[in-house]
Amino acid sequence: MTRTGSSSGVLSIKPFRRLWIALSLSSFGDWLSILALTALAGSLTKGSAENYAIGGVLVVKLLPALVFGPLAGAVADRFDRRTTMVIADILRFSLFLSIPIVGRLDWLYVATFLVEVVTLFWIPAKEATVPNLVPKDRLERANQVSLISTYGSAPVAAATFSVLALISGVVFSTHRQQANLALYFNAVTFLISAITIFSLHEIPRQDGKVSVPSILKQILAGWRFVGSTRMVRGLTVGIVGAFAAGGAVIGIAKVYVKALGGGDAAYGVVFGMVFVGMAVGMFLAPRILKDFSRRRLFGLAIIGAGVALVLIAVIENLVMVALLTALLGAGAGVAWVVGYTLVGLEVEDSLRGRTWAFLQSLVRVVLLLTVAAVPFIAGAVGEHRIKVGDGVYHFDGPNAVLLLAALVAVIVGLLAYRQMDDRKGIPLSRDLLAALRGEEYVPEEPKSGERGVFLAFEGGEGAGKTTQSRLLAIWLRDQGFDVVTTREPGSTKIGMRLRALLLDKETTGLAARAETLLYAADRAQHVAEVIRPALDRGAIVVTDRYVDSSLAYQGAGRELKVKEIAEVNRWATGGLTPDLTIVLDVPSDVGLGRFASPADRIESEPREFHERVRRGFRALAEAEPHRYLVVDATQPQEDIVRQIRDRVRALLPDPVPATAEAVTSTMPVISD
Ligand code: TYD
Repeated sequence: MTRTGSSSGVLSIKPFRRLWIALSLSSFGDWLSILALTALAGSLTKGSAENYAIGGVLVVKLLPALVFGPLAGAVADRFDRRTTMVIADILRFSLFLSIPIVGRLDWLYVATFLVEVVTLFWIPAKEATVPNLVPKDRLERANQVSLISTYGSAPVAAATFSVLALISGVVFSTHRQQANLALYFNAVTFLISAITIFSLHEIPRQDGKVSVPSILKQILAGWRFVGSTRMVRGLTVGIVGAFAAGGAVIGIAKVYVKALGGGDAAYGVVFGMVFVGMAVGMFLAPRILKDFSRRRLFGLAIIGAGVALVLIAVIENLVMVALLTALLGAGAGVAWVVGYTLVGLEVEDSLRGRTWAFLQSLVRVVLLLTVAAVPFIAGAVGEHRIKVGDGVYHFDGPNAVLLLAALVAVIVGLLAYRQMDDRKGIPLSRDLLAALRGEEYVPEEPKSGERGVFLAFEGGEGAGKTTQSRLLAIWLRDQGFDVVTTREPGSTKIGMRLRALLLDKETTGLAARAETLLYAADRAQHVAEVIRPALDRGAIVVTDRYVDSSLAYQGAGRELKVKEIAEVNRWATGGLTPDLTIVLDVPSDVGLGRFASPADRIESEPREFHERVRRGFRALAEAEPHRYLVVDATQPQEDIVRQIRDRVRALLPDPVPATAEAVTSTMPVISD
């Protein structure tokens, strides 16, 4: 036994491998039987009775689980598991064999029902056996492998059904004989399964208990906590709707394919396409949309399936229908993995089991109800011929059922999307595009339309930012604006400590990346505590330094990648960008020469450093001129002030007329 931990590792445990083969075979047989039985039921009836006959098969298949599920679980605990499984398989073999031999619709129902009842005893016996054959640490793997074969066998069964239908189409003349061949084949899979399990002596006689509470109990218990979280509520609505739509499609597929001129082979292909699509969707979506909100994806996948369904309902072309069915399957598959992951990630550990039990029980009931309702809906709609140009468009019961299912899927998808949306206010298209590029979309602008104005002053040392920002603030306050002046680093309590760390000359050996992150940390706190709240209440915020300082000092100055620093800061600030950044440009000699006080850690960097910083600011402004004002800071102060006001005026919510200047241009003396 190899301990690789991979799925093939689990299969290297011989007894488990045998059980798994038996399981795969019976899953395969199960799927094949759905196709064969619905096909046979269809061929045993005529006209609209066909709808009911097929619906009847599905109802009969689903009903036993609801009625006998708990009982079977209890029985499985009491009897020897290996014997239970072997007897169950032999019974299923005989029952399947009897269906084509008897060849009557009523027996088909009875036998199908009995097969399902027997299966109910087989499953818990199998579930209880797996932990006996696989070491505990590989149980999860074993379950995964079982799951893969349970669903993976569906497209294989569909393909087999198509091939069998084609082969028998050559040999036999009627549909009935074609379906019969599939049923014989199916019977044999259970016989092989019986033999395989019979040879499995490793299954212990009995230990442990598998208790299966009644389905109704599970649903009732589930209601109690599902209502409490928005996420599970959205998830439930989505899953119920998706399965209702799915049930409708399964219930009507055979009749629809026939109406489009397809036979059993085509039915098998369309059926198989659902699973091919599911597999592709499950595999690709999480990889392509790695950074996309899972909660959003869930609703979108269901809406997508709904849209595919609309097309399936109206485009009456078999090839297109088959392709669209794959798309439908992809939507369902994505919703399934995402739903599964969300329950795993966001539902509390102690509630997870119950959430699953609840969802699974609910799904069965929903499937049963829709499958039972489909023939009646189809029957009520009847057949309609609509003249379109030269041709005639057929709109029959199946079209109506499919459209209805599509409608349900779209509505439910929208509801789930709204309930679960965790990125409210962020446009979906941009969010999606960013995710496709493998990035996370952070909005450029804060969402609320009513926010204030955000202005930043930037520039090298001694450029006069502090003076200019204060002058601007005073001017703005004079106009009656609510103005908040602030600066970086160190405008919050936490920021003050970071500032001390950053500017103290005692701080030696600080790595450039660490420095970048500390500035970003100060900024994150600054945005959260000061800037964002001020903007939200509609104030004008004037900050002395912001993100661009990091881009210029740590990027250009320390020669780190500007793009990476921008990313980090976008994350730190939640994407908050100034409406206008005013760069006070001054040659570094002039700027540094303006200092009287001793230089701090950054100021004492060499001249070349400060020159790079200056070029860094200019480059930023050149790249996005609409968001920048570069002012030559060697000019006389009045000129600088005027240039800044001219530009800021245009941004103000209630523009200040230039003529008002005369009254307010008295310039108070500012000392730092
Ligand atoms: P500064 O505005 O010069 O403070 P003060 O005028 O009180 O000395 O900012 C402090 C220093 O921090 C300055 O030299 C530039 C540097 N700095 C960065 O390197 N990266 C940044 O992101 C910020 C905000 C500042």
